[in-house]
Amino acid sequence: MQVFSSVTELRSYLAARRSDARRSEKKTIGLVPTMGALHEGHLALIEASRQTNDITGCSIFVNPIQFNNQEDLAKYPRTLEQDCALLDRAGCDFVFAPSADDMYPKAPSLVLNFGPLESVMEGAFRPGHFNGVGIVVARLFNIVHPDRAYFGQKDLQQVAVVRQLVEDLAFQLEVVPCPTLREADGLALSSRNRRLSPEERALAPQLYQVLTEAKERLLRGERVAEAKQFVQDYLAAIPAFRLEYFEVVHSVTMQPLEAVKPGHTALCIAAYLGPVRLIDNVVF
Ligand code: PAF
Repeated sequence: MQVFSSVTELRSYLAARRSDARRSEKKTIGLVPTMGALHEGHLALIEASRQTNDITGCSIFVNPIQFNNQEDLAKYPRTLEQDCALLDRAGCDFVFAPSADDMYPKAPSLVLNFGPLESVMEGAFRPGHFNGVGIVVARLFNIVHPDRAYFGQKDLQQVAVVRQLVEDLAFQLEVVPCPTLREADGLALSSRNRRLSPEERALAPQLYQVLTEAKERLLRGERVAEAKQFVQDYLAAIPAFRLEYFEVVHSVTMQPLEAVKPGHTALCIAAYLGPVRLIDNVVF
């Protein structure tokens, strides 16, 4: 596995590997964009890419421009050496781990607006977040030119934003969403989980628990407003949690639903557990 921080060196490596002298067809590249602190969820994305593409790469970059909270940026776990060892074992072909100067030789002045997609949930609570995600993902796509890019569905709204980016800017690639992986107790795998204290870690599965119960209530015919009240009351009873939002939305448009839409209902939640912000969702 090769590790690059320089855009120029990565581009020449990819140009050489992409063209197979023995065959006329171009090799395909799968890209897994990440911010590092990798876990099994990321490795599942690497595996999904390996199954379909000739070359699989992973980018590791804690993107400062998508953080609206400087403390969250400072505390984001950085474990490059461990990450590279995991990726090597997982059969990844290359890692792109640029510094902030490699990624942004000049501060980007472009501002992206994803319209209704960013007026809700993560977009509403983290102003500028999707602009930062859109810019870094577009830069990665322009540097790597992947045929497919893999994203976890835990960040459901991010998947919708990236799809819109690809459609609006005519990137020639397929966005491949992959299912959320969970611990045995239901907690969605996330790089942020490692910041939880043992006490917080013990409480964390309640987030998935409340989503599951809200889903069952909605399927039994409870109204959206009642399910929302249930979630609020449930988390209010656990003082370590501070609910930021719980929304019942369309799983593609991310717009609020007034009633369950079979196959396209997403229950999305964000909450602080102590100092750590966790998100999760279920789609049904
Ligand atoms: O999901 C993430 O880890 C990040 O938002 C991404 C897509 C790598 C962009 O920085």
